Amino acid sequence: MTAKIITIERHFLEQQRFFPQASGEFTNLLYDIALAAKIISREVNKAGLAGILGLAGAENIQGEQVMKLDVFANETIIRMNDHTGRLCIMASEEIADIIPIPEQYPCGKYVLVFDPLDGSSNIDVNASVGTIFSIHRKVSDGPRGSLEDLLQPGYKQVAAGYIVYGSSTMMVYSSGQGVHGFTLDPTVGEFLLSHPDIQIPPRGKYYSVNEGNYHYWGEGVRRYVDYLKTPDPSIMLRAGEAIGRPYSSRYMGTLVADFHRNLLAGGIFMYPADSKDPRKPRGKLRLLYEAAPLAFIVEQAGGRASDGTQDIMHIQPASLHQRVPLFIGSREDVGKAEEFIGEFG
Ligand code: AHG
Ligand code: MN
Ligand code: MN
Repeated sequence: MTAKIITIERHFLEQQRFFPQASGEFTNLLYDIALAAKIISREVNKAGLAGILGLAGAENIQGEQVMKLDVFANETIIRMNDHTGRLCIMASEEIADIIPIPEQYPCGKYVLVFDPLDGSSNIDVNASVGTIFSIHRKVSDGPRGSLEDLLQPGYKQVAAGYIVYGSSTMMVYSSGQGVHGFTLDPTVGEFLLSHPDIQIPPRGKYYSVNEGNYHYWGEGVRRYVDYLKTPDPSIMLRAGEAIGRPYSSRYMGTLVADFHRNLLAGGIFMYPADSKDPRKPRGKLRLLYEAAPLAFIVEQAGGRASDGTQDIMHIQPASLHQRVPLFIGSREDVGKAEEFIGEFG
């Protein structure tokens, strides 16, 4: 007997039955994002040929500068979504201001926020990059979307997801009914369900943080990371596997890839606040484009996301590009990080 093959389209349609009021618009919006992801994936795969073929970031044979991949990814997502009538407004990590829907196109009831290419510096060294997206409902009264629609707390998301362009391209998403992962089969150009109902282990074995910043962190974070590295002789067994300290360190420098590994294998990703750059007192990562969507996913998978003192999902954004410290992953690990921060600051 052959295994059941579930394409992402079939999965979206099957999920739609959980939302009897849904008109199919939402399903189509997810499908538009999956299509944009396939186009970005194609370009990411060719990136190493840039110097040879004149692709992203290089000069082409006419001597013109070819679009960089983060600009390409950004424009692909915007062009794929601005005319469909499903969205009322967008915002991107790459664009300083809001992205209105052009006047000639109808305005829809959803809001799309995205980080088009996460970990973009890894492109040059052939390591994984990603895309992150977050979907809200329109809440403003006007005929078109406004900033109010974009500045919503994470718990109001209706869906969120990411695409990791790794050794395979995968799309992982949740619309509030668990977390599901799809692997792109490049030979047929379809995302196929490969990881149904992902659950993050309650405690992990990995910690992911840029430890080069150690001396710029607060005392709580420093002590927590010291704790993760300190051997604990009492080995715990969970499902037959030894877990405990020291944790193993894994850090790619692409949030999506680090998060994805920890989601599947268990662990904690941290980007704490640091005193390295006085212009960025709240760490590096962005609440709307990075922290909130991944928080939605991790909670759906049984994990947690915190800024060290409160849940990411409950933070009311004040501005589009606001940054936030992030501790995300297995729930016991995030809880432990909060304990240290609570005690030592
Ligand atoms: P982006 O490429 O979208 O700007 O994001 C990069 C982020 C994130 O992916 C990663 O976790 C972090 O930057 C790494 O920062 P450091 O180099 O400071 O560790
Ligand atoms: Mn990013
Ligand atoms: Mn980015």
